[in-house]
Amino acid sequence: MIKSKQNLNLTHESTTLAIGVFCNHKHELFNQLDQALASQLTTLLEQELISTKLKDITPIYSLGKIQSKKILLVGLGKTEEYTLDKHRQTMGKLAKETQEDLTIIFETFATDNVSIRQLAAIAAESITLASYKTDAYKTEKNDKKSIQFYLASNHDLSEDIKRGIIYGEATNHARHLYNEPGNKLTATDLANYIAGFAKKHQLEFKIMEKPEMEAKKMGGLLGVNRGSTEPPKMIVVNYQGNTQSSEVTALIGKGLTFDTGGYCLKPRTSMNGMQGDMGGAASAFGAFEVAVRLNLPVNLLLVIPSTDNMVSADAIKPGDILHMMNGKTVEVTNTDAEGRLILADAITLAKELGASRIIDLATLTGAVIVALGSETTGTFTNDQEFFNQFAKASKFTNEDIWQLPLFPRDQKSLRSSLVADLNNSPVGKPGAIMAAAFLKEFVEDTPWIHLDIAGTSETKANHDLGPKGATGVMVRTIGKYLETTS
Ligand code: BES
Ligand code: ZN
Ligand code: ZN
Repeated sequence: MIKSKQNLNLTHESTTLAIGVFCNHKHELFNQLDQALASQLTTLLEQELISTKLKDITPIYSLGKIQSKKILLVGLGKTEEYTLDKHRQTMGKLAKETQEDLTIIFETFATDNVSIRQLAAIAAESITLASYKTDAYKTEKNDKKSIQFYLASNHDLSEDIKRGIIYGEATNHARHLYNEPGNKLTATDLANYIAGFAKKHQLEFKIMEKPEMEAKKMGGLLGVNRGSTEPPKMIVVNYQGNTQSSEVTALIGKGLTFDTGGYCLKPRTSMNGMQGDMGGAASAFGAFEVAVRLNLPVNLLLVIPSTDNMVSADAIKPGDILHMMNGKTVEVTNTDAEGRLILADAITLAKELGASRIIDLATLTGAVIVALGSETTGTFTNDQEFFNQFAKASKFTNEDIWQLPLFPRDQKSLRSSLVADLNNSPVGKPGAIMAAAFLKEFVEDTPWIHLDIAGTSETKANHDLGPKGATGVMVRTIGKYLETTS
């Protein structure tokens, strides 16, 4: 729980206090607190027993001088170097470390660079992210009670806090979906989860079943699903936030609930973690949730093709030919390059449903991890203006992206099948680019951004803004993009 608190009385506050301390500037409220504590803060600072280094948290005890028993002094470094992202990390760390209810004397974190309202939204978002837990299936839960956070300020920060919480919760929902194992989150489960959200917000939605996919000739999704006993789902949700506008942005996410690789089976070490191959769907849904809950004046179409990629006597084999929804034929030279097959039909469907631009997200290639590592999302576009706007949002959220090229020769490389229009996995060609080039064959001229999040959808270690595992990457960036361009 995070709440705004106005009219704080520094000396008569029962919860633990947290106060920001810059190394080159002492806030008036810091001085007031220091006075109430008989100048102990100044003394401890002089003796270097309180650190003003960024993110250092020093607890001290008030020993009856004020009502709060405990005060956390939060080091913030230099005022001019305190950025939004440092604020994120600081707030995340504070939320992770506190064991008890906390009143954050929020004015002390403000600098001339950023408005206190923006800081409040970021704080609420970061605290929400840092509080995310992954103990869903542990029989012994971490019984740490839920903690109350109060942002104490002269301003009423409740609206900003609400917005921050929405960004944080939507990201956490994406993380939750990602972390769910293959046997707990099938395509049917994913469809039910999203349908639940659509119903709650009274949005028009459709869960397309196999017979309709057959009628629409969705050979990509049906092909990948051939080896499975779980039925495929094409999940479509419509949000009309702006009836004035004819723009419809499709958010398309790869919803592969488990990727074994199919007959081109993954080795054991690569198969681990492939419950997260629906990370694109999770983040697309999270961004959609942000827009819906913020009531953004945009029109969105959430499109999620979902299935697992399994082996059976029915499964597709290398060399098989698939007839895609848009009429193109594909030779499946590698059954492990399945994401592009299901996304291709989702893209065709989104266009048929009136998408005027497309953002797709997918844990699409191992190659993007080789190229950019696990902290930078690989991006592609056919519309530089669109991309530049998006890149601005990613600067704000500090979710790094890097644009990779798509040349005409890359489209040509896909035309190497003897018998079909396209080859789903040309050998000896750049992997992340081939996947993007394949999608582009279906996007055609519709303005489009493709986000390959194979590396960034997961972290290997705990961090200030959450535990290891799913990151919910790009939820905040897409949310911000929609917020600032609407
Ligand atoms: N889901 C994988 C991509 C992936 C790899 C995601 C590692 C997360 C971590 C995708 O379906 C895949 O298997 N891609 C192949 C493509 C290749 C066969 C052209 C790959 O990257 O090896
Ligand atoms: Zn695969
Ligand atoms: Zn995959």
